[in-house]
Amino acid sequence: MPETLTIPHDADKEEKYKAILPQLKSLLQQESDEVANMANVAAVLKDAFQFFWCGFYVVKNGVLLLAPFQGTLACTRIAFGKGVCGTAWKNRETVIVPDVEKFPGHIACSSLSKSEIVVPIMRGNEVYGILDIDSDRLNAFDETDAYYLAKIANLFFG
Ligand code: SME
Repeated sequence: MPETLTIPHDADKEEKYKAILPQLKSLLQQESDEVANMANVAAVLKDAFQFFWCGFYVVKNGVLLLAPFQGTLACTRIAFGKGVCGTAWKNRETVIVPDVEKFPGHIACSSLSKSEIVVPIMRGNEVYGILDIDSDRLNAFDETDAYYLAKIANLFFG
């Protein structure tokens, strides 16, 4: 188990993703517990990108239940199809929201959150949970984030 990760803090976004991806892969290969792995992935994403909020919700008893995250207090349960997270769960695809105020039904956990990306984590044919990242800037996420975050989501059961 590495005690430190190498994160090129001065690099651009894509270089950071390229640097952390193999390190996360190695980290997750050494640990089978999903909660422990979600906790470390959230910590690494926060460290690398200083996201306002990043973390996980997992499907449990028919709702998305709050799981390990980094950031401010968050809502604990999200229903199927509700908010950005519930939409990504329902549609089984990544949702990029450039301006949360323009997303119908967006669930505001913090008024500081301005844009958001949510990536489903698949376990076989089922949605295991979602990776949710919020920014305090508008339009913070693009296809580069979607591409690499999907790769990170695939590290869990891919
Ligand atoms: N904004 C999300 C809720 C989760 S928080 O952002 C942490 C949504 O609309 O589903």
